[in-house]
Amino acid sequence: MKVDVLLGLQWGDEGKGKVVDVLTPHYDVVARFQGGPNAGHTLEFEEKKYVLRSIPSGIFQHGQINIIGNGVVLDPVLFMDEAESLMHSGVDLKHVLKISKKAHLIMPTHRLLDAAYEKLKGDAKIGTTGKGIGPTYTDKVSRNGLRIGDIFCNFDEKYRIAKNRHLNLLNALGEAVDIAEAEAKWLGAIEYLKQYDIIDSEFVVNKYLSEGKKILCEGAQGSMLDVDFGSYPFVTSSNTVCAGACAGLGVAPNKIGEVYGIFKAYCTRVGSGPFPTELHDETGAKIRDIGHEYGAVTGRERRCGWIDLVALRYTIMLNGVTQLIMMKSDVLDGFETVKVCNAYRVNGVETRDFPYDIEHGIEPVYTEMEGWNVDMTSITSPDQFPRQFKDYISYLEKELNVPITIISVGPDRKQTIDLRNNR
Ligand code: GDP
Ligand code: IMO
Ligand code: MG
Repeated sequence: MKVDVLLGLQWGDEGKGKVVDVLTPHYDVVARFQGGPNAGHTLEFEEKKYVLRSIPSGIFQHGQINIIGNGVVLDPVLFMDEAESLMHSGVDLKHVLKISKKAHLIMPTHRLLDAAYEKLKGDAKIGTTGKGIGPTYTDKVSRNGLRIGDIFCNFDEKYRIAKNRHLNLLNALGEAVDIAEAEAKWLGAIEYLKQYDIIDSEFVVNKYLSEGKKILCEGAQGSMLDVDFGSYPFVTSSNTVCAGACAGLGVAPNKIGEVYGIFKAYCTRVGSGPFPTELHDETGAKIRDIGHEYGAVTGRERRCGWIDLVALRYTIMLNGVTQLIMMKSDVLDGFETVKVCNAYRVNGVETRDFPYDIEHGIEPVYTEMEGWNVDMTSITSPDQFPRQFKDYISYLEKELNVPITIISVGPDRKQTIDLRNNR
């Protein structure tokens, strides 16, 4: 058996949470492989809306196992709040959720360091989510991190050493800190964590595979935020690409099956950093308005622009995408024409390849297409798609060379058109 991977192809917030929820009935297990509470994955069904940050998006279906993998960084306080609120809504979390011993812990001092480093960068700040993601992954890579498995063995000592190292760093950065309150809450949340099934997830995942169980790996962020391939340094601190699923769950590369790449019919980005197709005009504001493009976690305005096929071709290549999923088709309903960036002019020379530097001298080259001008939100089958929308899809498929197999026409679970049995 192989695992399937679902991940974002743009700068995050593509709609991963919604699609994981929709696909979960076809799987036995859903597993998050990287990122942490910087993620905000929104699900809507039965007139309710949920935003998940650390817990996989497969928990609302029918008893599937959900795993937080070793590649994830976990803030126990945010986890506790999220878990309690889900259980309050009737989710039987304790029976379906398993957490890797090797996932790293976000400490209160990681969040303070995140803020201090951002302050130090001044105008060049990344615009992080402020959740301590960068400093936690830094500690992991520099071999100073605390892992969930550590909470069962000599934890006080390990915590004290890590905390003191952070306090020295904060002191050197000129930050006066008082962590007493946050620390007490955090230590309480560590105790809370102990009631969950904390496992050697790489063995469990591989055992499930050998038993023929179907596993869906859920990515966070998007490929353009990948620490190696994204718009560095304006990226997150993990590998968000498909290879992250191997490292973040202990799945061998030859065990990867389908790779679902998700993108919006347009493009958004939150935080700083280059965004070649960004619209600074009323069209951008209109997309933001209609698409409710505000951060699920931070509430920050998302920057909006036209779809960028140069970047999509790049991320499709990096991930080995086998199926494309297009989200938020309904948001472009009211546009007479829509634009697609199919090439960049880099210092006057046209290219279809994604360049090293997308910050300077880049001019998007657009193809303008007829808009569809039809309310897409109530469409239930592909034969109801307007001709102009079908043309849009065909154009993208031809230029991206991968089939679009699922189309989302609204935020609700039901507003999803699966083309796989319909063409
Ligand atoms: P994620 O981080 O990739 O899971 O995406 P987010 O949840 O941060 O952002 C996606 C937003 O778009 C959420 O508010 C979803 O409810 C919403 N959404 C998802 N699919 C659609 C769609 O097809 N149409 C519209 N209008 N909204 C959608
Ligand atoms: P989901 O999973 C969109 C962005 C931040 C910032 C950069 C680094 O919901 O798609 P970090 O806190 O990770 O150090 O911030 O990455 N970012 C996201 N943008 N969606 C996300 O997650 C993001 N997670 C991080 O805005 O620019
Ligand atoms: Mg999000």
